[in-house]
Amino acid sequence: MGLWGGRFQEGSSNMFKQVNDSLPFDRILASQDIRGSIVWSRAIAKAGVLTTEEQQQLESALNELLSKADADELDFDASGEEDIHSFIESALIEKLGDLGRKLHTGRSRNDQVATDFRLWCKEHLESLKDDLIAIKNALVLSADRNRKVILPGYTHLQRAQPVRYPHWCLAYVEMLKRDISRLQDLLARMNQCPLGSGALAGTVYAIDRQEIAEQLSFASPCVNSLDAVSDRDYVLELLFCASTSMMHLSRMAEDLIFFNSGEAGFITLGDAVTSGSSLMPQKKNPDALELMRGKCGRVFGSLQALLVTMKGLPLAYNKDMQEDKEGAFDAVNQWHICLCIAAEVVDTIELDAERTAQAAKQGYANATEMADYLVAKGIPFRTAHDISGQIVLAAIEQNKAIENLTLEELQNFSSEIEDDVYAVLELEYLVDKRNILGGTGAQPVFAALDAELKSIKS
Ligand code: ARG
Repeated sequence: MGLWGGRFQEGSSNMFKQVNDSLPFDRILASQDIRGSIVWSRAIAKAGVLTTEEQQQLESALNELLSKADADELDFDASGEEDIHSFIESALIEKLGDLGRKLHTGRSRNDQVATDFRLWCKEHLESLKDDLIAIKNALVLSADRNRKVILPGYTHLQRAQPVRYPHWCLAYVEMLKRDISRLQDLLARMNQCPLGSGALAGTVYAIDRQEIAEQLSFASPCVNSLDAVSDRDYVLELLFCASTSMMHLSRMAEDLIFFNSGEAGFITLGDAVTSGSSLMPQKKNPDALELMRGKCGRVFGSLQALLVTMKGLPLAYNKDMQEDKEGAFDAVNQWHICLCIAAEVVDTIELDAERTAQAAKQGYANATEMADYLVAKGIPFRTAHDISGQIVLAAIEQNKAIENLTLEELQNFSSEIEDDVYAVLELEYLVDKRNILGGTGAQPVFAALDAELKSIKS
């Protein structure tokens, strides 16, 4: 009948256990639960509930459980316990008898689970930040390896204006930097410790909540017990961070899938991150990228599910809130995997610089440069615009780029055109004219890239 059986005459039905038990998934919180219990045992010892010797006995038994938890040696399945909190407490009682039965004095599973989950989120936040930094760095290094590469930039998936490959990389670097700062903001907000809030109203024992918070590495204690045990906004924020970042990854994946397509042929990806077809021997599919795109569904779904779960709940704790965990565990895990695989994929990108340049040249993006060239020779802009338009038409008819017309051909449209025109029509010239801060010209792009490289090394 578990830990709360006193006022019950019958045990739980099997079906009730299936809906009620959270041990199958909250076992993930074993380490956090034990560490919270160690700190709690110290706090109630200080409040006079335990002798120093009792506290030491409890702490060393809890440390043994912690080593087992870390080594993945706890036997959850045989226990039949309801959740991780009752599992750890029962294990303690089994070891220490009545002394184990003292640990829960002044504490509730409500402040316990809120503490455990905050600890879990905080700890994952740190490793997710590292994952984000790794993919950011992979993009910076790929940009550095391919400084000179120019590829078409798109709007409406139509070729619009050429951009440098590092400019494309650094666009995602900016998004990743915001993803990182979102996690930092979240950490600052969620860094408060619920332990000591009891079931909902605080506890009668004279525990030092400041000290508890410090020992569990929180910045401070939560200031309102009702809020502390009943809000899960930090989980929602983490899921929002995951969703936004997955959306960024998915857009990057989509770009790369397109760049990798036979039609574009801009990049090839490494064998280690692609897969073949069981039927078509020639295929090399960008599955990792497709899964990065595909896994957004479940991550966004977890955010939505928890919002809906929380929305109608009266204060304070309600069992509905047990539904906060599976979605979050899964979303964080998928996010972590996607960030890691994204970094691996980016490391393998090989660009076909000739092909990207060729594609960037198509679409007569240099027609404006042609007109500006004529303006520089003293021709009024409206006339120059008209001449350039006629040149484009002739080039289209011959299925050529403007710069592939001979000087004689060009001179048919204006005698002002001389040999120096070809330099103006060059792709690099076109790109490098956009030397404004934030633009795709060599100067701002390489300055931004160098700053990122420096921050990697520092
Ligand atoms: N397994 C529960 C959860 O995850 C722990 C809290 C249970 N508290 C309670 N009063 N039943 O939310």
